[in-house]
Amino acid sequence: MLKLGNLKLDVPFFQAPLSGYSDRAMRVLACKYGAPLTYTGVMLDKIALYRKAFDSLYVRPGEDEGPVGAQILGSDPETMSIAAESFANLGFDLIDLNFACPAPKVLRRFSGGYLLKEPEKAIKILQYVRNSVSCPVTIKLRTGFDNSQESLDKFRQICQGAVTEGVDAIIIHGRHVKKLYRDISNWEIISEVKREFPQATIIGSGDLMDAETVVERLKTSGLDGVIIARGAIGNPWIFRKTRALFGGRPKPEGPGLTEQGEVYLRHYELIAEMLPMRKSVRYFRKFAVGYSKHHPERKKVQVDLISAKTRDELYAAVREWYGVG
Ligand SMILES: Cc1cc2nc3c(=O)[nH]c(=O)nc-3n(C[C@H](O)[C@H](O)[C@H](O)COP(=O)(O)O)c2cc1C
Repeated sequence: MLKLGNLKLDVPFFQAPLSGYSDRAMRVLACKYGAPLTYTGVMLDKIALYRKAFDSLYVRPGEDEGPVGAQILGSDPETMSIAAESFANLGFDLIDLNFACPAPKVLRRFSGGYLLKEPEKAIKILQYVRNSVSCPVTIKLRTGFDNSQESLDKFRQICQGAVTEGVDAIIIHGRHVKKLYRDISNWEIISEVKREFPQATIIGSGDLMDAETVVERLKTSGLDGVIIARGAIGNPWIFRKTRALFGGRPKPEGPGLTEQGEVYLRHYELIAEMLPMRKSVRYFRKFAVGYSKHHPERKKVQVDLISAKTRDELYAAVREWYGVG
């Protein structure tokens, strides 16, 4: 059991924030296959100030989802606290603060990973947000801005400050900002944080691409939990498999072709509820890469799924390769 404030998760792994991916559609499937909690992709705090965008289906958590965390990004404590309150009122179960995003346009606006350079500011944002909502608050950060000692010290300072403020969990991606997604995630730095703050809830992230690796990290890292990110794209089954292995049961077979095809179409239909047809087909393309990995003819399937331009073409490709739809 993993407790994040008043949220009780029956397994210590859940779905990471994934910008451009972890919209309602992906979250519904992750939840169906066993993720006890999911996160939105990062959302600009200012979106909360614009009613129309805010009310859209894109943002709102659905009734067919389990607990969802809203991840917000910004640099002004006041605006971040307004955003946190608005997202909590919209029905999100938890607020997560992004001190991790390495995108240049985000760093230029002094937010996301940039805040790793400004521990006082990061903690001030946490304090403001903490005072504005009653739901759990987590922070997501990388292990520093770059690989310098100064950067590592600031990272630790933020962890220390967050623990003092009573943050509900610190989620750490074991790469620094400059590293983007290169090399491997440094789990030792994450485990060190847990050793330094044993009373805090520390969640690790990085390179968890299959159920075996997730369970191995849970066993060896000494952390309270982990999040699954790229490993869950086009692969909601990772949660079912991880649940089985974590519970000491054999890893379930599959998914078989029929299940793959059905889930692929279900995912598309959930996206089609949010977007006009052509746009939805285009937007959904990026998921074809992950889904087709489960098929023995992976390369050919991927090409056909990606080249579909309409709903009918998408269904035709799924019929051909999976025999459903
Ligand atoms: C496409 C993509 C989008 C991501 N979007 C976010 C995001 O919105 N917020 C965030 O905190 N991290 C984001 N991440 C980082 C992941 O949550 C995770 O920490 C990172 O991918 C490391 O885990 P992995 O190696 O298992 O994928 C994103 C990563 C990817 C690949």
